[in-house]
Amino acid sequence: MSTNLKGDLGQKIDYVFKIVLIGDSAVGKSQLLARFARNQFTLDSKATIGVEFQTKTLVVDRKAIKAQIWDTAGQERYRAVTSAYYRGALGAMLVYDITKRQSFDHITRWLEELRSHADKNIAIVLVGNKADLSTQRSVPEEDAEEFAQRESLFFMETSALDSTNVEAAFLAVITEIYRVVSRKSLVANEEFESGGKSRLLSGTSIAVSGNDTAPSSSSTPSRCCSS
Ligand code: GTP
Ligand code: MG
Repeated sequence: MSTNLKGDLGQKIDYVFKIVLIGDSAVGKSQLLARFARNQFTLDSKATIGVEFQTKTLVVDRKAIKAQIWDTAGQERYRAVTSAYYRGALGAMLVYDITKRQSFDHITRWLEELRSHADKNIAIVLVGNKADLSTQRSVPEEDAEEFAQRESLFFMETSALDSTNVEAAFLAVITEIYRVVSRKSLVANEEFESGGKSRLLSGTSIAVSGNDTAPSSSSTPSRCCSS
């Protein structure tokens, strides 16, 4: 992955995090991304064909983080080569539609695919989208909460239409990735300082700045239910 070290406003970038969106067709992946990256929403959006990505730069713990968010088709026939899509991903958003039970039932399959192709330390948030349509709800919030707890995932209900929790869901993934990578670089620094070989930094696809310190516990998502 190429690391462009300049942000959207030309500022220095400390980290680049690749995040993937997955879930059935029409659950709202592309609209969640449009809302987060450009604050836009389209009611008659077209199904995604192939792969697209957008970036957004934000500051967490005084570090500039460029989130590179990849979006692909939920429809099997439009999906791009799976392994390439997951390569280098540090975070994932697993999306279902709270009004479509089937899209929630398929989450197990998406999770299996994710776990077989992505890094084992990947940060995952389960997202129940279209929370604005709660009168048509077919997935109780408790079912999803229980599932998320069992699988050690963050969980949040969102609405790309009215913006509820969209930023919070992306921030949950981003801050969790940040927690993991800054802990890794801390351990690597300690190993380096004690004369050991830095195993942990080899092979990571992130841009790590010179002197990272442990993150503070700020911006922890409120609905978090994993360790
Ligand atoms: P694929 O690209 O086929 O995988 O679908 P997708 O998951 O990207 O779905 P997309 O974002 O294109 O949204 C599908 C439809 O759901 C569109 O008509 C959106 O306007 C609608 N939609 C997306 N998010 C929401 C939401 O939060 N609330 C409501 N009411 N509709 C939404
Ligand atoms: Mg799409």
